[in-house]
Amino acid sequence: MPSLRDAARGRILFGGDYNPEQWPEEVWEDDARLMKEAGVNSVTLGVFSWAKIEPRPGAREFGWLDRLMDLMHAHGIGVVLATPTASPPPWMGARHPETLPRSEDGSIVWYGSRQQFCASSPVYRRYAAALTEDLAARYADHPALTVWHINNEYCTHCWCDGTAAHFRRWLRGRYDTLDALNEAWGTAFWSQRYDAWTEILPPRTAQYMKNPAQVLDFRRFTSDALLECYTAERDIVARHTPQIPVTTNFMPLWSGQDAWAWSAQEDVVSVDIYPDPRDPLGGQYNAMIADMTRSQAAGPWMLMEQAAGPVNWRGVNHPKPEGLNRLWSLQAVARGADAVCYFQWRQSRQGSEKFHSGMLTHAGEQGRTFREIKRLGAELALLGPAVSGSGVAAEVAVLHDWDSWWAGEQEGRPSSLVDYTEIVRSWHRALWEGGFATEFARPEADLSQFKVVAVPHLYLLTDAAIDNLVAYVRGGGRLVCGFFSGVADVDDRIRPGGMDARLRALFGIRTLHEWWPLDAGAAVECDGFRGGLWSEELEAEPDTEVVAAYRDGELAGLPAVLRRGRAWYVSTLPGPEALRALLDGVAREAGAEPVLAGLPPGVEAVRRGELLFLLNHGRGTVAVNVPGDLADLLTGRAVRGTVELGRHGVAVLRSAAP
Ligand code: GLA
Repeated sequence: MPSLRDAARGRILFGGDYNPEQWPEEVWEDDARLMKEAGVNSVTLGVFSWAKIEPRPGAREFGWLDRLMDLMHAHGIGVVLATPTASPPPWMGARHPETLPRSEDGSIVWYGSRQQFCASSPVYRRYAAALTEDLAARYADHPALTVWHINNEYCTHCWCDGTAAHFRRWLRGRYDTLDALNEAWGTAFWSQRYDAWTEILPPRTAQYMKNPAQVLDFRRFTSDALLECYTAERDIVARHTPQIPVTTNFMPLWSGQDAWAWSAQEDVVSVDIYPDPRDPLGGQYNAMIADMTRSQAAGPWMLMEQAAGPVNWRGVNHPKPEGLNRLWSLQAVARGADAVCYFQWRQSRQGSEKFHSGMLTHAGEQGRTFREIKRLGAELALLGPAVSGSGVAAEVAVLHDWDSWWAGEQEGRPSSLVDYTEIVRSWHRALWEGGFATEFARPEADLSQFKVVAVPHLYLLTDAAIDNLVAYVRGGGRLVCGFFSGVADVDDRIRPGGMDARLRALFGIRTLHEWWPLDAGAAVECDGFRGGLWSEELEAEPDTEVVAAYRDGELAGLPAVLRRGRAWYVSTLPGPEALRALLDGVAREAGAEPVLAGLPPGVEAVRRGELLFLLNHGRGTVAVNVPGDLADLLTGRAVRGTVELGRHGVAVLRSAAP
């Protein structure tokens, strides 16, 4: 199977989306010159080129792309070639309106922006396949081709009649009989029983709350329908070039695609990361997405897109202060990225993204952004041979699952304030601030390699997942589980007792009497900390250790955090310090160690292969104590005892011994 290693060849890929169709050809030579100057070795071409390649149905205009592929090759720059199927040209929607998605209320999502396609439309799929076929045939032997990039950030949703027919086929595959579907969807409730397959619809706008099991299946279906579009194009390009790896870029922690299922279909897992430069925890967000992507890739991954400066889609779009782009880019490398790429090479002068930064901004080659890009390019070239292809070891796993997310975030639940991604982020933050290397895993995965498994919040757990967790603890592992977990089964049916009996036995919970969600901003006092968002009225088994009890409110005196042997249950969301202390304690008991002890606040340490990365996310200069005789790969200087890191400073250390 081809991999990122084949494309990277001992380097870190550096570059970005290149949209030369927006520019006159005389700019292209200048682009190539400046790319060389910046150390760019990879560009992504063609992402939004459908209308340029196929200006009218069946036409093919490849001449311009031929010239670009040759130009890039002449400059030693590899091409990540995209199938341009994310944005069909206007002629498609005008001639074939059934390719346009429909919203939940039946209104049409028109062309004039991008991504206006229905994943279930046979017409869209036919045109996309034909174009992919011709593109793959034309460039299969081109020496610049390094990676195939299918589509872009698959994210469309559609509720049209064609989707309805496709949804029914998917449901037949899942349930076989209508009786099984009625049972799984609980259609005895509110007189929703289906008498014929043709009655079943995607969950369209309705009078009141929709059937949650139907909504859950529709989310599963939509992810699968988009995945079919991906695999259809992937199979075409792979037939032409079995040696070239294939990817599609994910949005980070995006609910529309089950990235566990998707990444299994990719040779290279890639992601687009856009933290807010003003977020004081932007570094933690990056670390979380990097850990997640590396886990999905089971190895090195590709940072397909990030911004060198401001984006244009937040309310207020802040630039990156000097050094921040470098810090976050090197952080991605530390956490396993073998590619550091951007949206986009040259900032657009027209269109919706003309205020979105590029590697080369409106300020041009004299601009600060480009100056910083050049520095980064040179440093990545230094780092490549030392780091490319190597791994990041972790002793702690965080469990994450799309089914649970989809089922948990619906109408009609105890608290609409519970935000799945925020809870995952809180738990990852606690581990990140504690200095532990973490992986993400799905609940059914083999967990035996981990000393600690953390479950921030998994509302839905399958029987297999529950058995897996129980077996993990029996096998010697330590499990820490957050609130409102193990509540529903695979069909979003509440487990008897409100939490699966196997889990209650594992944590030593005799009875779960009630869930007591908290109001926005409210807190509940517990022994030694304050909890937010949620609390639970639990009755423990006599042999269960109550680690902390609730101190005020209706639940005063009842257990908040409890433990039975190697299994902990945390029935609220402790504040950041408390969660960190709790997870720290469990990790230490398990023999898991932070990457480097005694770090100043805001400093992150990551080991990748032989290298120790130190990254300063704090505001000021800090001195970090380091063990042994080391050398900083970036400066070539010897480091003994301490290393000083300025604001946004980074050191990449390796043993000075020969
Ligand atoms: C996404 C898309 C790009 C671009 C950027 C802007 O990542 O893939 O085409 O729109 O967002 O941030």
